[in-house]
Amino acid sequence: MKRPAKLIMLASALVVGTVLAQSALPKLEVKKTYKVGFAQTESNNPWRLAETKSMQDEAKKLGYQLVYTDAGGSTAKQVADVRSMIAQKVDAIFLPPREDKPLAPVVAEARKAGIPVILIDRNIDPALSKAGTDYVTFLGSDFIDQGKRVGEWLAKNANGKSKIIELEGTTGASPANDRKKGFDDAIKAAGGFTILASQTGDFSRDKGRQVAETLLQAHPDADIIYAHNDEMAIGAVSALQAAGKTPGKDVMVLSIDGGKEAVQMVVDGKINYVVESNPRFGPIAFKTLQDYAAGKKFPNKVVLTDRDYSPETAADGLSGAY
Ligand code: AHR
Repeated sequence: MKRPAKLIMLASALVVGTVLAQSALPKLEVKKTYKVGFAQTESNNPWRLAETKSMQDEAKKLGYQLVYTDAGGSTAKQVADVRSMIAQKVDAIFLPPREDKPLAPVVAEARKAGIPVILIDRNIDPALSKAGTDYVTFLGSDFIDQGKRVGEWLAKNANGKSKIIELEGTTGASPANDRKKGFDDAIKAAGGFTILASQTGDFSRDKGRQVAETLLQAHPDADIIYAHNDEMAIGAVSALQAAGKTPGKDVMVLSIDGGKEAVQMVVDGKINYVVESNPRFGPIAFKTLQDYAAGKKFPNKVVLTDRDYSPETAADGLSGAY
């Protein structure tokens, strides 16, 4: 599905689900300024850096104090970071949970301490933590739809290729679970595709490259690599080149995120298709906080809309990519 190109890719959003009562949530006073926590998961890729910059820029623009932490790829550290924000008595916390289960207890602890939490980017297992009760709402992309869009594009453009290596994101992270589900369901519905191997590359370029190298050795007949993010796709491009294969031609490469480097690779023909995952959360996150303080009710999800980059649209979209 093609989405209209935008010069500046600010997040636009769809409100999903029924509006929640929110009576169990801590109240947030209307104030001129707030001290707000943002507990980042890691800073090892351009997507994370773009998300952090968007949050920092918006806090600065509004004159709010941002208590920023970087968990450095450790879920345990992210849990500790949120606890430290609770101890510092921040007014509210923006949280992209690195994994979908281990952060649920600290979200409950924040609520008990009277601090509203707004989930951004990644979600928490709904069996453990609920919007409107434990946290205000979830702002983010529809990760299942992202994977589905990649699968549907592949079904139309595979040109006889059919044997897939899947590079999964961080184990236990909502985008890894959902991008897998959306893609796997779409190719199953299309028929004629086989997933030869599916393994985590932890959303990291280097791990993605290493895993792609190993899997290409085990499955030299693979002719499609689907990576759950750009970093692993870029790692896979290096692995293919090291194996003497031409990425984008001998082996199709498909990805999600839409950073400049990957979009340039679509222009250059090394990556075949990318669905965007918009990292620019600052404006919508802080507006949600202000609206919440003003008494607005939210649904359980506010879904950001994402464009895509195909060989036909990538050159035009490059200037708007993060
Ligand atoms: O949660 C979004 C994902 O996390 C992005 O696709 C990835 O690049 C990041 O680390």
